Amino acid sequence: MKNYDSIKHVRGESLFLDDQLTPTGTLFAYVSYSPIAHGKIKKIDLSEAEKLQGVKAIITAKDIPGENQIGGIIQDEDLFAENEVHFVGHPIALVVAETQLIAHEAADLIKYEFRKLPVITDPRKAAALGELIQKPRTFNLGNTEKAFNKCDFVFEGKVESGGQEHLYLETQGAFAHPVEGGGVKIYSSTQGPTAVQRVTSRILGIPMHKVEVDVLRLGGGFGGKEDQASPWGAMAALAAFKLNEPVKLVLPRQVDIKITGKRHPYSSDFKIGLNKDGKILAYEASYYQNAGAAADLSTAVLERTLFHCTNSYFIPNVKATAYCCRTNLPPNTAFRGFGGPQGMFVIESAITKAAEEMGLNKIDLQKRNLLDEGDEFPYGQKTEHCRIKRCFTEAEKKYDLKKMQKSVSAFNSKNKLFKKGLAVMPVTFGISFTSTFMNQASALVHIYTDGSISVSTAAVEMGQGVNEKIRNVVKNVFSVDLNRIKIETTNTSRVANTSPTAASKAADLNGFATKKACEIILERLKKVVANELNIKQYNNITIQQETIYNKGKKTKLSFDKLIQIAYLNRVSLSAQAHHSTPNIHFDKSKEKGQPFAYHAYGVGIVQATVDCIRGTYEIDSVKVVHDFGKSLHPIVDKGQAEGGIVQGIGWMTMEEVLYNDEGQLLTNALSTYKVPDIHFAPNDIQVLFLENSPNPYGPYQSKAIGEPPLMYGIGAYFAIRNAIKEFKRKNKLPFKAPMTPENVLLSLYKNIS
Ligand code: MTE
Ligand code: HPA
Ligand code: MOS
Repeated sequence: MKNYDSIKHVRGESLFLDDQLTPTGTLFAYVSYSPIAHGKIKKIDLSEAEKLQGVKAIITAKDIPGENQIGGIIQDEDLFAENEVHFVGHPIALVVAETQLIAHEAADLIKYEFRKLPVITDPRKAAALGELIQKPRTFNLGNTEKAFNKCDFVFEGKVESGGQEHLYLETQGAFAHPVEGGGVKIYSSTQGPTAVQRVTSRILGIPMHKVEVDVLRLGGGFGGKEDQASPWGAMAALAAFKLNEPVKLVLPRQVDIKITGKRHPYSSDFKIGLNKDGKILAYEASYYQNAGAAADLSTAVLERTLFHCTNSYFIPNVKATAYCCRTNLPPNTAFRGFGGPQGMFVIESAITKAAEEMGLNKIDLQKRNLLDEGDEFPYGQKTEHCRIKRCFTEAEKKYDLKKMQKSVSAFNSKNKLFKKGLAVMPVTFGISFTSTFMNQASALVHIYTDGSISVSTAAVEMGQGVNEKIRNVVKNVFSVDLNRIKIETTNTSRVANTSPTAASKAADLNGFATKKACEIILERLKKVVANELNIKQYNNITIQQETIYNKGKKTKLSFDKLIQIAYLNRVSLSAQAHHSTPNIHFDKSKEKGQPFAYHAYGVGIVQATVDCIRGTYEIDSVKVVHDFGKSLHPIVDKGQAEGGIVQGIGWMTMEEVLYNDEGQLLTNALSTYKVPDIHFAPNDIQVLFLENSPNPYGPYQSKAIGEPPLMYGIGAYFAIRNAIKEFKRKNKLPFKAPMTPENVLLSLYKNIS
């Protein structure tokens, strides 16, 4: 696999935050946090901890010179708890010491006294008590009430989906050092450098221009570092600022798992109405999102659940209502798919129930209701270049779905104790930040006098290959060797006011900005050529593979020579450009608009085998046809699809985040929290690129890829469910994910209704 970083990664030469050289005298910090989920702080006793040799300072809320506030969308979250704690892991103090070990030991010596308050962990209970982070929101299309009256069949049900730990290989962390004039520089493992900068400036009470944030690369983010990298950056900066020394803060794995937010668990209700031909006429859903103890990104995540409530189907009458429920868990946050997967799981459950009750094949039902060109989503946008039907027919054809169905049936009639199940999962995912203003990015490009090129953008490399894609954009504009092009760290002093690398939008937004900046320089270079060669019309000048052409004819100029001449003629070899996505808007007062630049489409066929004695299962295969647009980098894109699929299967089948009623996490290590490994991953993952599908709204006709494939994993849940149904047809199975082996075993042998 060729990616900018592959060779360095394999040799262990790539630097992550904790590998970067730090000055001698660097101090180490450790977070001391609430051991209970809800209570008043009666007493904080630091005396024993402070006495420990090597401890330099213990910082609490009262040491914050600015505002004790880290909330992004809603300002409802403190950096350090002051009077009350709201979740297990709520930071209260930061110990700074000569070594990490001393800091950790000292943290254990801090004594707290609390007066316990009631703990809520269940979102429906929170909603019943009025613990909502914002007013419920409803998306409406047509009139469901009238439509249900005309339906031949109406079904209702309840759906539960669980949380998910991001498990980025690199845990959260930051390194900060003071700079002259009362500022700080922070090296952070963040998807959102500007978020870290903004939060730190607020905490320190200094202007943003005094806070510089730099990001080399991340060992994964998956949404977990979109907003939740900020507190650690701010804490390291606060300690550096107060002590006037460099400070590093890196969370140990178990602490990271315990105290940071995860994918939001949801509890949902649905009602679906169909006519006897299997056309879905009406759909209602209510989503109770477990937001945790503060808003974080929950309201935006919940909004995307509403956007994707009908997945890939056209339903003329829809009413979807979303509740953002405050509980005493760590604030949950962005996770690949950003609420979309939770919404799609509910509609897929509803269609499954309808098919089972009506005695129809679910795949036929799905197919009958797929989106067509020009169909309206509940949020008012209409499909354009809709490719879901094409993906569906291609998948049926290329993978011979009929034959797969037959061989599964044949297997099931021959085998008693092993059963196979098959499911199809269509995915339609809106591409753009749902908050319109976030759809902007900038790039800064320099060409040095030796012809080497340096590119800075807002994009953060976290394994998804965005750097390699941006290099290809530069290569496309200048037609030069890829080795000339270097992507610099993401830095708030070089590229300001960055949106986080999220919403699968980094390559689109930063790719367009980079293209624009390069084209500004190219235009100047053409003028230099015209001047040098006495050509009147500079628009016939091109660069092709390092050589300069005029009217298709080779000139004596090479790229290197041209750069030399431009420099000697005092022509600027640097450019900055800004890009914002055109024609998108959304009116929250009406819940209508055109929030997405375009949609990503695809269809996955998932097959599973269940061992009906043990309740264990294997995912035999995942076969996908996906619309990648005209890929900027097919190998990177395929890798994104494969990784997303396995991560999605993990969420739906084996990854189980468990808290007890006291809000204590029971699964804070890989011994208790099982994730897919290479042995579990399906042996057979096939990803076909939908042919002839250029995307007019992406750079060089490409399409975003980061998140959409995760949702194929939902197919694994239904494939397992279908296998269970083969073993015990009459069982009424609940719609509850993850489908762990325990749940499979219960479903096989207990009469659940
Ligand atoms: N792939 C890797 N290897 N590591 C990651 O952290 N994050 C995912 C996805 N793929 C992630 C990843 C998420 S949540 C998003 S939003 C996109 O990458 C962001 O990058 P992009 O906008 O460049 O696609
Ligand atoms: N995706 C990811 N992150 C976001 C979004 C989104 O749509 N909106 C705001 N932050
Ligand atoms: Mo991705 S969840 O938008 O970082």
